[in-house]
Amino acid sequence: MAGRKVITTQVAIVGGGPAGLMLSHLLAKEGIDSTVIELRSRQEISETVRAGILEHGTVNLLVDSGVSDRVLRDGDRHDGIELRFNGESHRIDFQDLVGESVWLYPQTDVFMDLAARREADGGDVRYSATDTSIHGIHGGSPTVWFTDADGTDYELRADFIAGADGSRSHCRMQIPEADRKWYFHEYPFAWFGILAEAPRSSEELIYANSANGFALISQRTETVQRMYFQCDPGEDVNNWDDERIWEAFRSRVNGNGFELKEGPVIDKTVLKFRSFVHTPMRHGKLFLAGDAAHTVPPTGAKGLNLAIQDVRVLFEGLDSFYKTGSTRLLDVYSDRALDRVWKAQHFSYWMTSMLHTPAEADDFSRARQLGELNSVVSSRHGRAYLAEAYTGWPAGR
Ligand code: PHB
Repeated sequence: MAGRKVITTQVAIVGGGPAGLMLSHLLAKEGIDSTVIELRSRQEISETVRAGILEHGTVNLLVDSGVSDRVLRDGDRHDGIELRFNGESHRIDFQDLVGESVWLYPQTDVFMDLAARREADGGDVRYSATDTSIHGIHGGSPTVWFTDADGTDYELRADFIAGADGSRSHCRMQIPEADRKWYFHEYPFAWFGILAEAPRSSEELIYANSANGFALISQRTETVQRMYFQCDPGEDVNNWDDERIWEAFRSRVNGNGFELKEGPVIDKTVLKFRSFVHTPMRHGKLFLAGDAAHTVPPTGAKGLNLAIQDVRVLFEGLDSFYKTGSTRLLDVYSDRALDRVWKAQHFSYWMTSMLHTPAEADDFSRARQLGELNSVVSSRHGRAYLAEAYTGWPAGR
């Protein structure tokens, strides 16, 4: 067999989702070379339905770094959300409380903007790669082995490897057990997510708590809506026809004059909750970013935002290294990133436990939960706490 074709770059990026592409883009702007290796095809990633809320900091980075300003034109700015419980809606007014907003702009569109920008700028992104593996992260010369879409075997040599290869990360698994600490939390909940052909039921997102469980009313376009309701993690979508699905939503959201607009369900999936943090986020020449290092339940809409924050901090470390030779910012990458990761981990946990109804909830826990919701919405401080976390904390240390 012929040997591997050797190619070199400065930063090898494993994973071509939003985190990997954003890192590649930021590096390219500073003249730092990178190659991105991705197992999926560009089309497959474009067709994956993912969550849709961007913090203002994420939007600013997309726009200011020149990825695209499409989010400002095609995205919807949301100045608040509604918390709905006991049949009543309570608005959390982000603008009034913290002077910030979020944007409803699906992760798929973030990916498409980044992929288009990398392509236009001549970025080296290898989609549809196979047999990817990383080597030499402990020593001075890390490499990524992969086979490209045409079947050619490569050895990619780099100064550093960024592992942005998602929650089942191959990169993460190469870190020896003795050098890592793994935090894991299992939630007894899952979401039943649908896309439905229907007009908007509300201009803003509705996070609804009810004795029958949680529901989230989100949007996509004038004619297609995204919604979720709490379900058992073992639920099978095939047991749910449209009528049963809408009945689940009605019993959690409708009431006191509010009625969801219904229509044909065109997509249904069960989203399992997984929550983990892998520390540290660096091992030798390998830096983990995004879902490769941590996942959160979707209730706080933090997953993509955290991934983008990670690569922003990692970029600062790499840029500083290439400009000055100093590894100081690379050395504090993990601590800097984890500061926000744990804030988001807590916020997602808090939103999840406050809004979902455990199957075994007794009268006390139900009444306590309503007490918690009331204490948040009836206090400006409570609402401001939620608003600050939801829209995104200021950039950290
Ligand atoms: C979505 O629109 O898909 C979405 C919005 C907010 C969340 C989760 C998902 O918290």
